[in-house]
Amino acid sequence: MADFVVVANRLPVDKRVEPDGTTTWKRAPGGLVTALTPTLASRSGAWVGWSGVPDSSDDPRIDGIGIRSVPLSSDEIADYYEGFANSTLWPLYHDLLVEPVFDHDWWTTYVVVNRKFAEAASEAADEGATVWVHDYQLQLVPSMLRELRPDLRIGFFLHIPFPSFELFARLPWREELLRGLLGADLVGFHLPGGAENFLTLVRRVLNLDASRDPVGVRDGLGTVRDGSRTIRVGSFPISIDASAVAEQAAAMTDRAAAIRAELGNPSTVLLGVDRLDYTKGIDVRLDALDGLFREGRLDPADTVLVQLASPSREHVDSYIAVRDRIERSVAHINGTHGTVSSPPVRYLLQPVPRDELLAYFLAADVMLVTPLRDGMNLVAKEYAAARADLGGALVLSEFTGAAAEMEQAYLVNPYDGQNVRDVVVRAVTDSPEDRRERMAVLHQQVLDFDVDLWSQSFLQCLSGAAAANEAAR
Ligand code: ADP
Ligand code: G6P
Repeated sequence: MADFVVVANRLPVDKRVEPDGTTTWKRAPGGLVTALTPTLASRSGAWVGWSGVPDSSDDPRIDGIGIRSVPLSSDEIADYYEGFANSTLWPLYHDLLVEPVFDHDWWTTYVVVNRKFAEAASEAADEGATVWVHDYQLQLVPSMLRELRPDLRIGFFLHIPFPSFELFARLPWREELLRGLLGADLVGFHLPGGAENFLTLVRRVLNLDASRDPVGVRDGLGTVRDGSRTIRVGSFPISIDASAVAEQAAAMTDRAAAIRAELGNPSTVLLGVDRLDYTKGIDVRLDALDGLFREGRLDPADTVLVQLASPSREHVDSYIAVRDRIERSVAHINGTHGTVSSPPVRYLLQPVPRDELLAYFLAADVMLVTPLRDGMNLVAKEYAAARADLGGALVLSEFTGAAAEMEQAYLVNPYDGQNVRDVVVRAVTDSPEDRRERMAVLHQQVLDFDVDLWSQSFLQCLSGAAAANEAAR
């Protein structure tokens, strides 16, 4: 039994099938696992999640974390993961960038699967344990778990944007989802705006007493009164293990130089690094590049854009469509502006090993982070952390959570093509001193506000919120 339990859709593991057919599990290099490893190790910790493999009775084991796998069938993955989570909630919470699908059968499966996660967490948790539930896939787990185990301290954190009343109220299941979240003692969002949207929704949809004061960052929590319980609501911008990124990146300078040489030593290397998702605005930066070549403001013979994309949610229609759009655009740019030996866009659709990724960060003159909507965007923070040399420049969409903190970036409105083109040119041509000054601020900022601060501040607020509810019982 564990006194600290993490519940997330995915387990922090990657499956590997060795040449001899045997299976091994490796710890996945994700941000959440890095963030929580110290806490998991210092207490008796467990992680409840899905292995990522459909119809599998795999029981992954890795050192240091007690793993409790929640097996899911192919049908459940189709309706819960690809359906309700990623074709209903994901587009709705990301400002309707594609039309969300409302399907009552998907909802039924979402409820069934959330119950499986709640039951697994209930079995893993010791008396009075702290359980931290993560993200939009599991919004019903807090209340299901509270019903099973009133003794637990339950926190919930949403890793994606939380929409306004007008968008959320479209959901046929709006009451159930809000009620699901209110099972937690503390509900956390990246930005105060998401927390305030939640408070408004609880007031207007559920008619509960919710605070109206502005929510602060890691401070000034909002409150919802629900019977004898008080649910705290706050803003906790997630971050990265910035000093580890800086240290690992420092070892990659030779490889960074080799990358620039492999690219033909162009004057300007632009870089994009994303999961292949329509929220990321990969097409925004490709359109900007095409426009800048056409206008003669960047020279295709001397400029390279490296776009590293990792495949994601590949069976979901909107992901198939965005992949098609991006690949057509890459082919168009290379076909129109390139030569056989030097295409200006180098596009990879495969995850890149961590070290190699850091070397690309060091090799890039300008990092292009242009999402149409993003809860935080850790790539922006990783780039700033990697650039301890204070080189490079970060172009960052105003529609990311990261933009709220990283004001010294070259901020862009991704919906305004002309603005994107102008800002990219500025980031390329500004004086080295101006660029260094901006990067110095960004680099220090990610070192100061790292992922440890995120998890510790959330867990501290959770402990206070839960203790107050226990005293009121
Ligand atoms: P999201 O969580 O929506 O994918 P984030 O930017 O917050 O977006 O986090 C993405 C994480 O995945 C970062 O740690 C980033 O380094 C990593 N990542 C993104 N694209 C790739 C890629 N092509 N290869 C390897 N890692 C990647
Ligand atoms: C975002 C979500 C996470 C999710 C990740 C990868 O960061 O907030 O919950 O795990 O994307 O997506 P996937 O669908 O592959 O888990």
